Amino acid sequence: MTQIDDIGWIARQGIGLVQNDGLRSALDAVYRSPLGIKVVDVAHHVFERLTAERLPAQKLCQFVSGWGSTHGTALYVSGLVIRLQRAARETGEASRTLLYRAATEIGEVIGEDTGVDDVPHRERFERFANFVVGNDQWKLDRYDVPACVRFREYAKERRLGADLEDAILTTAASENWNTGEYTYFNSLVERWAVDVLGYPLALREERFAYIAVHAGETELGHFLHALKAWELYCDAVGRPADPRKAARCLESYLRALTLAFKGLEQVLAE
Ligand SMILES: [Fe+2]
Ligand SMILES: [Fe+2]
Repeated sequence: MTQIDDIGWIARQGIGLVQNDGLRSALDAVYRSPLGIKVVDVAHHVFERLTAERLPAQKLCQFVSGWGSTHGTALYVSGLVIRLQRAARETGEASRTLLYRAATEIGEVIGEDTGVDDVPHRERFERFANFVVGNDQWKLDRYDVPACVRFREYAKERRLGADLEDAILTTAASENWNTGEYTYFNSLVERWAVDVLGYPLALREERFAYIAVHAGETELGHFLHALKAWELYCDAVGRPADPRKAARCLESYLRALTLAFKGLEQVLAE
């Protein structure tokens, strides 16, 4: 049985593919904790509210702006690739290859985002956002959702400022959450676009491609690349890959994300 209507369930299917027993159960436990249950609940509520009826333009602008702030962080992940390459260049020969390989794995997290493989995701996002709102007004600062802007700062700091292990694990956490979020949102898109927003089905596929391209295997693959990078990094620095550390980074990410979704919830409820 599939539970495509549950972000947590989908995210946990990705975790179920992790080979290491200790890591798999530590990450799974985070989604079963009150924190994991809460973030999934708040996110579901936001998407249900968004797609239940046609919202006024102001709210659509705020949603698109705020939700967009929680995604599209490939630039910071590319910064993490550079940090790993620099660490490789500066270290001894024994760990150099491992760090370069870790950088390569992190690079694979953002192949699609950067446009190496397809249309850059920022372009896809703009196409989606312009279509939902009907114009590009959502780009104005007045539609910023402060809680989502704060989340973006958090994501930036965790990739560019935090120590390398935390930066890699935060990337893994975000790809794992995204697996659930995009796959779930994608399951709502057709009804939302056609029945609620009133767009012809034919247009839906192209204009909502931003969501479809992230659903299913895409983010799941990124999650597994990030975990591989973490193992290589730990190997390079001679530190055990501690599942408790991975779980703490996932908790930190979900705690920050809860605040962002609460901000979106408030905006849509007002
Ligand atoms: Fe993307
Ligand atoms: Fe991704």
